[in-house]
Amino acid sequence: MTYAERFQRLTALLTEWQPLWRPLPFHHRQMPWASRHSGLYRYLMLLDEANWIRLERDPFATSGIGTWLPVAELTELTQLPSRHAADESALPNRWGDHIGGRKWQQLEAFVHRVEAKPGQAMLEWCAGKGHLARTLSRLHGSEVTALEWQAELCEQGRQLAERQGVALKLIQQDVIAPDAGRWLDPQGHVVALHACGDLHTRLLQRAAETGCDITLAPCCYQRTAADHYRPLSQLGRRLAESHDLQLERDDLALAVQETVTASAAVSRQRERANAWRLGFDLLQRDVRDCDRYLPVPSLAYGRMPASFADFCRWAAQQKGLSLPESTNKGIEWEEWEAAGWRRLAEVQRLELVRHLFRRPLEVWLVLDRLMLLEEAGYRVRLGTFCERELTPRNLLIQATRP
Ligand SMILES: C[S@@+](CC[C@H](N)C(=O)[O-])C[C@H]1O[C@@H](n2cnc3c(N)ncnc32)[C@H](O)[C@@H]1O
Repeated sequence: MTYAERFQRLTALLTEWQPLWRPLPFHHRQMPWASRHSGLYRYLMLLDEANWIRLERDPFATSGIGTWLPVAELTELTQLPSRHAADESALPNRWGDHIGGRKWQQLEAFVHRVEAKPGQAMLEWCAGKGHLARTLSRLHGSEVTALEWQAELCEQGRQLAERQGVALKLIQQDVIAPDAGRWLDPQGHVVALHACGDLHTRLLQRAAETGCDITLAPCCYQRTAADHYRPLSQLGRRLAESHDLQLERDDLALAVQETVTASAAVSRQRERANAWRLGFDLLQRDVRDCDRYLPVPSLAYGRMPASFADFCRWAAQQKGLSLPESTNKGIEWEEWEAAGWRRLAEVQRLELVRHLFRRPLEVWLVLDRLMLLEEAGYRVRLGTFCERELTPRNLLIQATRP
């Protein structure tokens, strides 16, 4: 299957099934698709804990969901070659000094995928402290240039490179600015690891004008100035138009919803926060006599009030809502909290439907980027640069202009 065919098929499937993957179970007490797809709905509601956990970890695992949804085809369309090899020579440990453990492992995997030609100038786009550029400079024994917007990160990165005796030119540059393209060398190679939304689309557009080689792992597609997604490639625009696939910023967030599994303690805290939010949601619907979701601001980690009642008081205050605590009826806190936990179990099961479309959406967005490059005359390759456990944002675009 060509990339264009894959792109086309994914467009059709994402469009056909959008009534199921779009609505957020957290917001809907009744899923809009529940009666039309009652078999699937019943199956999910009856899913036991062990099977829910299994599918939460791997939405494509064998299950009854394939009876109602195109699981087999989505699996095939999202399968990509892994560009990483288990026997790869490890880099010296000290090169990873001052870099977080997981980030260093990602970098180690990524730098091996940068197929720079001998003597080719390398540029890192959105470099932070230039960890990737520094590692590339050490690996290839040549100076690497890196662009970063924040002056403080540039300064810290320069000091780090100087202390380690690494040839790194860290330049303070807003990559969105019109003059950012001047750093791209038509004979050079530009790299970016986890550059967000507009930052990496700008890179692709500038690079396509220049013709330099590209190694990119994109991230955070929803971080964009536009509310509605406008496909980057001509094919993407044609397909989106003919299928009437319209993606909004919130839809793009689904593509990056999968995160690395948190520690057990953090997961428990997150679960409790979600159960309390859902409990409050049921309560506010009752108090307001209005069956509509009311968004409540998020709370920084560790700032959650100690009890469900205190959480509801806080949330009500945020929304200017007065709770009927002083009336004779009062509030049965335990009952609302228990209802919140029951709702959470439902929401978690319904979310499995959206989980199934997460990766297809991400692959679709990356294929749009790939098509942009192909249309600009590039020879392109798509694969994964590391295992998903290291980072779920493991898709890699490699592009060269013959
Ligand atoms: C998600 S981080 C990726 C950093 C690094 N590549 C990594 O993998 O750790 C994105 C970086 O882009 C920088 N950045 C954000 N907006 C930028 C802009 N307009 N121009 C240049 N850099 C920008 C941020 O300061 C941050 O250091």
